[in-house]
Amino acid sequence: MVAASPFRGGGFSGDRGDGGGRGGGRSRGGGAMKRGGGRGAARGNRGGRIGMKGGIKVVVEPHRHAGVFIAKGKDDALCTKNMVPGETVYNEKRVSVQNEDGTKTEYIVWNPFRSKLAAAILSGVETIWIKPGSSVLYLGAASGTSVSHVSDIVGPSGVVYAVEFSHRSGRDLVNLAKKRTNIIPIIEDARYPGKYRMLVGMVDVIFSDVAQPDQARILALNASYFLKAGGHFVISVKANCIDSTVPAELVFAVEVKRLRVDRFKPVEQVTLEPYERDHAIIVGGYRMPIKIRTTTPQ
Ligand SMILES: C[S@@+](CC[C@H](N)C(=O)[O-])C[C@H]1O[C@@H](n2cnc3c(N)ncnc32)[C@H](O)[C@@H]1O
Repeated sequence: MVAASPFRGGGFSGDRGDGGGRGGGRSRGGGAMKRGGGRGAARGNRGGRIGMKGGIKVVVEPHRHAGVFIAKGKDDALCTKNMVPGETVYNEKRVSVQNEDGTKTEYIVWNPFRSKLAAAILSGVETIWIKPGSSVLYLGAASGTSVSHVSDIVGPSGVVYAVEFSHRSGRDLVNLAKKRTNIIPIIEDARYPGKYRMLVGMVDVIFSDVAQPDQARILALNASYFLKAGGHFVISVKANCIDSTVPAELVFAVEVKRLRVDRFKPVEQVTLEPYERDHAIIVGGYRMPIKIRTTTPQ
């Protein structure tokens, strides 16, 4: 295990992909929600040392988000533990670590310019709720670029139901799921969750990235079918998909209000500069238990 001991050998491979060593953009809170902010720093000092072919030393450390790692070298890079060593999905870089017992662990670099979830982490989002063992409903899976990292995070004991309505992207998704058995590809319109209700169990988290004007409604519909009470949502909001005539901050505020109507409790909002313009990630809970205040009689 990477965290436990020093490592020898290994290095980056692959010829593309910016690992995004740059810190995240500024984060803004909305209403009573938490302000994001800060960079997605790694936590702890349990890193493993690995040598790169070019002689540059890299240390892989667990990130404070469970299942996410940081390869610290010349440039820091966010990464996840590759469920299918030797394989990449979008030609991302690989970081190979040789463990003391001779086994190898491979990580794949997670590019924040290609994934809003990675951008949110580097922008300092407090929690994404997606962790090892989670069941996740992912709306707007496209060809599976980010889905592959979510599949790495949840690992073999978790599951990712990946919904995408484009048949072209869906083909890539189906091929991805042949190698990553914790992905269930669903080639359907997320506006009609009834069509895939037989395939999806109750989930811990819904991640939504459909970039549609009615995306809050799409999330609410899917939550009503599949999200556990007390579960969580993460939604990527692209302001100009909803209304390009008003400032992005206003669009985000309206979306937060819409979510509240549907029993979501938005807790955190993070903007994704410099990785994405006029995008925010909103995170929160669903049908959260009501806290009852008890007072001791005097
Ligand atoms: C912004 S892209 C998603 C990128 C992806 N999340 C990633 O990080 O790799 C939006 C995707 O949502 C899909 N989409 C849009 N509306 C949808 C709907 N109603 N149902 C299912 N998929 C939808 C689009 O085809 C597109 O692939």
